[in-house]
Amino acid sequence: MDQNSASLKDKVAIVTGGGAGIGKGIAMTFAKFGAHVVIADKDEAVGKKAAAEIQALGRKSLAITTDIRNYAQVKAMVAQTVRELGGIDILVNNAGGTRRHSFLEQGEEGWRKHIELNFMGQFYCTEQAAKAMIAGKRKGSIIFITSIEGHRAAPLRAVYSACKAGLANFTRSLALELSEHGIRVNCVAPDFVDTPHTMTNMTPERMASILRGNPLGRLTQSEDIGGACVYLSSDLAAMTTGITIHVDGGTMASSGWMRDAKEGWTLHP
Ligand SMILES: NC(=O)c1ccc[n+]([C@@H]2O[C@H](COP(=O)([O-])OP(=O)(O)OC[C@H]3O[C@@H](n4cnc5c(N)ncnc54)[C@H](O)[C@@H]3O)[C@@H](O)[C@H]2O)c1
Repeated sequence: MDQNSASLKDKVAIVTGGGAGIGKGIAMTFAKFGAHVVIADKDEAVGKKAAAEIQALGRKSLAITTDIRNYAQVKAMVAQTVRELGGIDILVNNAGGTRRHSFLEQGEEGWRKHIELNFMGQFYCTEQAAKAMIAGKRKGSIIFITSIEGHRAAPLRAVYSACKAGLANFTRSLALELSEHGIRVNCVAPDFVDTPHTMTNMTPERMASILRGNPLGRLTQSEDIGGACVYLSSDLAAMTTGITIHVDGGTMASSGWMRDAKEGWTLHP
């Protein structure tokens, strides 16, 4: 093992939702470490912009407009990737998300929408990419971007958090099922990440509260998630499968402890 073990030179990565937010941070970090990147985003404009930025770094990049909830589109996206870039080494299941909802008021349609975006879409992409990795005899890396909300209670995000928790255990099972093909499966679980979406309508009070709950005292950036994905996709992590890496500044560990300017560390009830 040496510093080249961190390189992703000429590996082919697919990042779902790679046109903006965390996915774009992952895609750009992959490109900086040498990977060619497919942006599989449902928004054509942001996908094309991200692909152009990756090409400007000297890597190959395709923007393939894909809604991960549409099985036919996912199949076509994976087939085009193999056709044009020769195979797949890395899949990051990043696209997903939620808005605050009361479980009781969300109703059948709301639950279904959450499950399609945060569960079914990940199954479609994982099945298709894993089959392509196996056919191409590539020892691939599959990553799910889950959430701290999948590891603790999340009122008003109950269905979303159930999906994220489910993905963490899906990861463990799949890590075993795909091990015979040399494919590794892992999760990265962020807390609050600084993205255009999360910063919309941010107030100074809310920001102060977020920072108080984060032991490292700064917002997680998309590139911090990208760093964990590079590690999990590189030879540095050749023996790492079936785990979750929390990229949260210590939020998960703090479990209610907060740093107060006057009192230092206090345990909030
Ligand atoms: N942002 C956070 O603070 C945070 C925290 C924890 C976990 N996460 C998780 O990280 C992931 C990315 O979150 P984000 O906040 O960067 O997302 P985002 O809402 O900013 O969206 C990022 C991109 O995903 C694309 N996208 C949305 N739905 C899609 C679909 N059905 N098919 C393909 N592309 C789609 C959008 O067009 C957009 O370009 C999600 O899985 C989310 O649950 C986010």
